[in-house]
Amino acid sequence: MKIPKPLQFIIVVLVVYGLLKAPGLLLGKPIPQSVIFMYMLFVVIAVLLVMTATDESTEELFAPVRALVEDPSKRLIRNVVFIILPLTAGYIAYGFTKTGGGQAGLRSVHPAPPLEMRAYGKAFDLSTLVNPLRRLEKEDPAEFKRNVEEGGAVYFRNCFFCHGDKLDGIGHYAHALTPPPLPFKGRDTIAQLSESYLFWRIVKGGVGLPQEAGPAESSMPAWEEDLREDEVWKVITFLYDYTGNRPRPLGR
Ligand code: HEC
Repeated sequence: MKIPKPLQFIIVVLVVYGLLKAPGLLLGKPIPQSVIFMYMLFVVIAVLLVMTATDESTEELFAPVRALVEDPSKRLIRNVVFIILPLTAGYIAYGFTKTGGGQAGLRSVHPAPPLEMRAYGKAFDLSTLVNPLRRLEKEDPAEFKRNVEEGGAVYFRNCFFCHGDKLDGIGHYAHALTPPPLPFKGRDTIAQLSESYLFWRIVKGGVGLPQEAGPAESSMPAWEEDLREDEVWKVITFLYDYTGNRPRPLGR
């Protein structure tokens, strides 16, 4: 009995796939899926080359495909196949968006800051650093309010793409980022942190994060090149003012 060409093709491809899968299934030593995918690509190309060596064999191999596309009586199957194919491809592509997003292991969302930080040509002692604008809150409320407003302008020029126009962490880019941008609203981010901590995070960004904040790369930019020192303090003041949070006092 002669096996039809298209079936031969499927059998050969399946057998090779089975062989590549065997070490994983039988010995518990799987070949990485990406490697199998690459091998299978070459196998399919090689088998196609062999099976299309002559005109007759090509004709025989593609007869079912040709029938599906051309035969008027196969209209229903044709429509079904042409709907299922793109849907399957879409589903597989969608699956890729999920992998890689997962975080391996634990990640510290608010890692411990260094004791000292260098920026703007000087050293900052983060354990004693206070927001220079804070004293204005009592001494000159009008001036304080002006600084908050300028901080708002800094925020909406630089930060809202990621952290959201409502400071809820859901900016336009947020969905594409791992780890996601943090919200400032609510009581569990900046309300738990001191202003010197925010100063460090904003000035040094994701690049300056210690190991414990890994393994994913944070997209939080380092702002020391783009914002002046006073602009950083202003935006910090804005974050607390807008969300109605109070900074955590130093050393507690
Ligand atoms: C490209 C996107 C992006 C932009 C723009 C951005 N951030 Fe971030 N930011 C992040 C991400 C992602 C995180 C969370 C990961 C991390 O902690 O590094 C974060 C974290 C932070 C944190 C730490 C909060 C905490 O609770 O520990 C602060 C503070 C912060 N951002 C402030 C700002 C300010 C202020 C600006 C504008 C000057 C800004 N960010 C602009 C992406 C961004």
